Amino acid sequence: MKKIIAINGSPRRHNNTYDIIRACLDGCEEAGAETKLYQLADLKFSGCVSCFYCKNKAVPHGHCSVKDDISPILEEIKECDGLVLGAPIYFMNISSLMAAFLERLYFSNYIYNFDTPTVFPKELPSAFLYTMNLDEKGMEHFHIESMLWPFQKFTKVILGRQPEILYACDTWQYPDYDKFESGMFDVEKKKDSRANRWPKDLEKAKEVGRKLAAL
Ligand SMILES: Cc1cc2nc3c(=O)[nH]c(=O)nc-3n(C[C@H](O)[C@H](O)[C@H](O)COP(=O)(O)O)c2cc1C
Repeated sequence: MKKIIAINGSPRRHNNTYDIIRACLDGCEEAGAETKLYQLADLKFSGCVSCFYCKNKAVPHGHCSVKDDISPILEEIKECDGLVLGAPIYFMNISSLMAAFLERLYFSNYIYNFDTPTVFPKELPSAFLYTMNLDEKGMEHFHIESMLWPFQKFTKVILGRQPEILYACDTWQYPDYDKFESGMFDVEKKKDSRANRWPKDLEKAKEVGRKLAAL
């Protein structure tokens, strides 16, 4: 049975990003895979400390010297059949939780060698699921795809395959738009997105999961 690991890079454990990841994992399970979800918000860990242990010629490559809560997950990912990375967009980029996680996962499996820059042990199918306030027009205006391109690029280099990508836009950020300063938002448009667009995004995430489990 295929094993798919998912990582939630949102500090909110059960909100938009979780829902999108959950739908994707439902798709994986429908396609016969077993799944496991890690909440980065529950774990104590740091980003890369730039010690270059992973590139030291005297030790086997592909291992991070930092020992913390994500150390076993970095090793477990080498054994799995698919990786789902879910992140909210913060200040036009991935959340710091996900950025720190990827620094550790990707840099420890990357060596400065043009011929074989990756030491990751196999080709691993993956999916990036992004959630954000912006709609498509806003995404274009703020060049979100260009901002996120390096993550896709390094995924191809290190995991050996282009990731599947899903942008879930115009998310419902909090339950009560009257309670918080929200003048920047067209709340009626937000409501409409929540009612009509969000279910479609969940369905797309499910489809990504089915595809991932079949790769
Ligand atoms: C610190 C912070 C920064 C944010 N910056 C952006 C942003 O630059 N662009 C955007 O579209 N949404 C931004 N958002 C909104 C979130 O990306 C969006 O609501 C997301 O769906 C939240 O995911 P969650 O429900 O899993 O927490 C920001 C939210 C926070 C808390």
